[in-house]
Amino acid sequence: MNETAKRARAAIDLAAVRSNVRALRNLAPGAQLMVVVKSDAYGHGAIRCARAAREAGAPWLGTALPEEALELRAAGDTGRLLCWLWTPGGPWARAIEQDVDVSVSGMWALREVADAARACGRAARVQLKIDTGLGRNGCQPADWTELTAAARAAEAEGLLTVTGVWSHFACADEPGHPSIAAQLTEFRRALAVAEAAGLRPEVRHIANTPALLTLPEAHFDLVRSGIGVYGVSPSPEVGTPADFGLRPVMTLAASLASVKRAPGGHGVSYGHHYTTPGETTLALVPLGYADGIPRHASGTGPVLVAGKWRTVAGRVAMDQFVVDLGGDHAEAGDEAVLFGPGDRGEPSAEDWARAAGTIGYEIVTRIGKRVPRVYVDSEVPAQTGGRREDDTARTGGVA
Ligand SMILES: Cc1ncc(COP(=O)(O)O)c(C=O)c1O
Repeated sequence: MNETAKRARAAIDLAAVRSNVRALRNLAPGAQLMVVVKSDAYGHGAIRCARAAREAGAPWLGTALPEEALELRAAGDTGRLLCWLWTPGGPWARAIEQDVDVSVSGMWALREVADAARACGRAARVQLKIDTGLGRNGCQPADWTELTAAARAAEAEGLLTVTGVWSHFACADEPGHPSIAAQLTEFRRALAVAEAAGLRPEVRHIANTPALLTLPEAHFDLVRSGIGVYGVSPSPEVGTPADFGLRPVMTLAASLASVKRAPGGHGVSYGHHYTTPGETTLALVPLGYADGIPRHASGTGPVLVAGKWRTVAGRVAMDQFVVDLGGDHAEAGDEAVLFGPGDRGEPSAEDWARAAGTIGYEIVTRIGKRVPRVYVDSEVPAQTGGRREDDTARTGGVA
């Protein structure tokens, strides 16, 4: 373990990324898989996870920001890549030059991408996004006929190719929610309008992880999966990762910074929201809300210390929190495991989500920069050393 990982570490199991990608491909056999690596691969490290996803046969990657897509290109990724969250000003030209598919949700974006294509003398790869009911990004159905016609005209001019038509679900993590069927109907209508305009997209897609897992009729030509690739459940209603053969990728652990005896009646952490019920042992975990540990998990977050689940005692502070070990023995330097795949009986990211009143997505994505990512690859062949750990922090060591 390198020095920066001594305080705390997020072990990222790249073999689990690959095995999850294979499992997800098997669950959507008629569709191509897009692995969503936005926000540093939900906190797991975009470059390393992208590479593992490609190795496991992911033909597409997806990001929100153009900068995230360009970072993948700079790291040597050459496969199909879509990015979807644009604001006026681009960087359209760089995306076009780097062969990145760009998402267009309205006329302002279509005009900017066509201008950039004209300036760089190269056709843009454009995916048109329809808002089928999420009420977030995407073209309103009322404006869709105009957008598809204008895109077709730009295509005829050689400025762009419409490579995709796509949308995003609002409630796929609540199987059976009435909005799901309504969005599918609207999506089919939008596809028909696009076809009538003369567009022939390579890929039509609407499914995220929960739809991939629960709704085969939503698979179309491509499915976009983020949270499933990282082995975390989209919601309790969808099921556990194990239900779908998915394995959690991140294990978050820290070394105890202090273990001390304290008398009964001792207040613990800011606000004294916890008081020791009797003489006890208090252990200090050197992770706090600056590292992404939710303050909402004060008094509720579960941690494996000295072989048992403990609960955060009192408030989570910026850099640290306390657990009450009762009469149990531990020493400074012993490991506290916050969440992981459960092999050692530790809690899961879903347990933390429940404790903090949030979703597993937020738990893993918010683990901060101060926590080094330690890449673990349990699939490395025995003759090259078996299980390999490398201490590359964050997304370092690319290409
Ligand atoms: C547009 C879009 N597609 C796909 C995804 C992936 O969703 P999930 O992580 O549920 O697979 C996201 C993530 O929020 C998204 O914003």
